[in-house]
Amino acid sequence: MSRGFSRKSHTFLPKIFFRKMSSSGPKEQPELQFPFLQDEDTVATLHECKTLFILRGLPGSGKSTLARLIVDKYRDGTKMVSADSYKITPGTRTTFPEEYKRLDEDLAAYCRRDVRVLVLDDTHHERERLEQLFEVADQYQYQVVLVEPKTAWRLDCAQLKEKSQWQLSADELKKLKPGLEKDFLPLFFGWFLTKKSSESLRKAGQVFLEELSGHKAFKKELRHFIPGDEPKEKVELVSYFGKRPPGVLHCTTKFCDYGKAAGAEEYAQQEVVKKSYCKAFTLTISALFVTPKTAGARVELNEQELLLWPSDVDKVSPSDNLPRGSRAHITLGCAADVEAVQTGIDLLEIVRQEKGGSRGEEVGELSRGKLYSLGSGRWMLSLAKKMEVRAIFTGYYGKGKPVPTHGSRKGGTLQACTII
Ligand code: A2P
Repeated sequence: MSRGFSRKSHTFLPKIFFRKMSSSGPKEQPELQFPFLQDEDTVATLHECKTLFILRGLPGSGKSTLARLIVDKYRDGTKMVSADSYKITPGTRTTFPEEYKRLDEDLAAYCRRDVRVLVLDDTHHERERLEQLFEVADQYQYQVVLVEPKTAWRLDCAQLKEKSQWQLSADELKKLKPGLEKDFLPLFFGWFLTKKSSESLRKAGQVFLEELSGHKAFKKELRHFIPGDEPKEKVELVSYFGKRPPGVLHCTTKFCDYGKAAGAEEYAQQEVVKKSYCKAFTLTISALFVTPKTAGARVELNEQELLLWPSDVDKVSPSDNLPRGSRAHITLGCAADVEAVQTGIDLLEIVRQEKGGSRGEEVGELSRGKLYSLGSGRWMLSLAKKMEVRAIFTGYYGKGKPVPTHGSRKGGTLQACTII
């Protein structure tokens, strides 16, 4: 593919795309079937998020065409950062330190401006480079979507040599290939709420914690929340659950640990996972819960969402036989020294208790529904009106470690936070 093609209008698209588009239109082309291009519900949902699209692929594989289609689809509030424009030849990054410095500065400037859709067009064959970008995404609270062309020739060095304008030899292309042959697996896959949905759920969670902190039934059971039995009249749950996920909230489907977790590869290879990647969903929240370790929202998955749910995660012990999706949750906060993974375990224990016939004792009415005491410091608010939240199914690729986050131009200060 010629470099010029990628930056200009459709008139300059590679011949194969142009020919097909003019006869059947992009909707029918299998290599262009991505939810973020075709599914209008996804397009509308992505307008409510901050997304960094990272194109990956060998020179000539069709990245720039896809990048241009994304920009055309989302138009205003979209920026493209293409290695082409910085005169970077595909290869090793170290050859172009100044060029990458300029590219990174421009990218950071767009992030600071909260540009909704950022499209980054480069080969992205090096893990180290991707890790730098994931860190930028964390800093500015962007969700990441990795996009690889689906063209038949994307890994065929002989054909790519002809299509690419770089006059790279087949051997040079082969050197870039190993980094692009395998899927890059995230720390975890999941549904990432839009900014608006995230804010309304966060708010609902906060009101719940405040109301529960002041509720008389809760005040009688404070011992579960006070270390060392020190006498106390009140526990402020909002500060007790001080470890809160920054940015948008998420519902984990599969924890992959970048491919090291059992079953990660198999999960990522499933057709439904591939097809749903960067697709919008509506999650239903039926309850909010608190335990001495975690605060979370219980998610009720529909049939379509259950297809993305791994078969082996709804167990605390191997003998458990809980309904599929029992663990589906959104972590709202964790007590000090508690890891986010605990929220799912806490919810499974609650479901196990329910299955055993103990739904807990109804102890009062809060503004959003009935409050149940489940014993052992477990509390559940059953929502009178279930909440529906919008979310994008994608991966989280960062380190999940504290990073200084940059607030938006609306006046954020630097703060350290952990992605949980
Ligand atoms: P969740 O909050 O949905 O339970 P870490 O904190 O280790 O960096 O992990 C990041 C996210 O991955 C957490 O927010 C947690 O999601 C999820 N997670 C971590 N470990 C596991 C695990 N062993 N199994 C399932 N999910 C996990």
